[in-house]
Amino acid sequence: MTPRKKITPKAIRERKRKGRLIVALTAADFITARLLDDAAVDIILVGDSVGTTLLGYESTVPVTMRDMLHHTKAVARAKVSGLVVADMPFGSYHQSKAQAVRNALRFVREGGADAVKLEGGLVQKATIAAIVNAGIPVLGHIGLLPQSILQEGGYKVQGRTEAQVEALERDIHAVEEAGAFACVLEYICAPIARKLTKMTSIPTIGIGSGRHCDGQVLVTSDMLGLQGGFAPRAVRRYAELGKEMKTAFEKFTKDVLKGKFPGKEESFE
Ligand code: KIV
Repeated sequence: MTPRKKITPKAIRERKRKGRLIVALTAADFITARLLDDAAVDIILVGDSVGTTLLGYESTVPVTMRDMLHHTKAVARAKVSGLVVADMPFGSYHQSKAQAVRNALRFVREGGADAVKLEGGLVQKATIAAIVNAGIPVLGHIGLLPQSILQEGGYKVQGRTEAQVEALERDIHAVEEAGAFACVLEYICAPIARKLTKMTSIPTIGIGSGRHCDGQVLVTSDMLGLQGGFAPRAVRRYAELGKEMKTAFEKFTKDVLKGKFPGKEESFE
């Protein structure tokens, strides 16, 4: 198999023009990044959802630059051809444009990311523009913003009221005008996501936003069923790895307790 060419932000933008859908999934470690790349995933997002999926935080608010750099470096070491996008954590771009540019630079120079993502439309327009002007590609993110949980008090589907729709329209225009190469639309009613997708020249990448976006992203641990039990409505489970892992751990426990592991074939006589 011929190796894939490195995916660039420009190539992601071209996809919209050509009508080729964009595939994105999250990764926080070397092995997952390699597997996603083998599956020809276009965008490998080191999402700050790592905070709730792998690190045990209750929301993404406590995720730090240190956490995100650690996971971004692990993903970058996989030397993938997919575009590696690092999520800027809460507080890493809110104080000033200078702070945002400084931290975005850390993601590309220390972390090895190809681009960064940050949450917010119109309110972050100047920040996105400052990072883009520093030469760092930015993936926008509008709609449901998990980092705004303190203000919002919960995770709610967006685009249900006229005021929300107008705000979303302002947001997508702001993200585009600021120079982002694409924008995540999170939990936006499908008809509104469709409208936003039509009104912008940059690709939209939906999560919980229906099928009319220019691409789709899911949190990998959700689609793999790693956390068992509850799955948000917008998630399709492509595997039940949580159950499989538990079964394997139980089998190992039994084998060890019964003296069945290791056997002759696993020992050095
Ligand atoms: O952190 C994350 O995984 C994300 C996706 C939900 C887009 O931002």
